[in-house]
Amino acid sequence: MANQGVNDPVNTGRRRFLTATTAVVGAVGAGFAAVPFIKSWNPSARAKLAGAPVTADISALAEGQRLIFEWRGQPIWIVKRSKAILDALPTLDSHLRDPKSDNKDQQPGYITGELRSIKPEISVLVGLCTHLGCSPEMKAEIRPEPFDAEWKGGYFCPCHKSKFDMAGRVFQGVPAPTNLVVPPHHYADDNTIIIGVDPQGAA
Ligand code: FES
Repeated sequence: MANQGVNDPVNTGRRRFLTATTAVVGAVGAGFAAVPFIKSWNPSARAKLAGAPVTADISALAEGQRLIFEWRGQPIWIVKRSKAILDALPTLDSHLRDPKSDNKDQQPGYITGELRSIKPEISVLVGLCTHLGCSPEMKAEIRPEPFDAEWKGGYFCPCHKSKFDMAGRVFQGVPAPTNLVVPPHHYADDNTIIIGVDPQGAA
């Protein structure tokens, strides 16, 4: 199955992800319809495909932009953060539920602290709200927003108004209970991230 990368600097993540998912499911379905005996001959093929690691080429990812891939049926966001965004993250700590990523269920052990990333500028997140699973909108600009006059960039879930910063850290006083999930991942080289596999030797 081809990886589904979508260059998406604005707020259309959920719609585009659903479009991409539909396209992939359609292609798989057509393949099985054409050769139905494959399904019984090798019943685990689809399951293996669904859980396989995804290779993400980030060579074209510019500052402020987001790429969206699909891994295990989930949208995976890869965002390149600016210095201004990185500088703003520590200033938000007192407004957040889990500013230091203490809840170990939300990220692998090698992802720690305020940035929640292997490289400071590159954030990798599962793009699903930890309340009821909507896909939040990216609001990456530092500017007043209708839902927060002191917005420093982040993600806003319109379903029930949960807010997350540009590290996926959840704000206090919103329905979502925890930070966005960081999936297992590592860098094969500077421009290639393997989603679904921990770095070699990582706990
Ligand atoms: S699903 Fe995001 S706030 Fe409810």
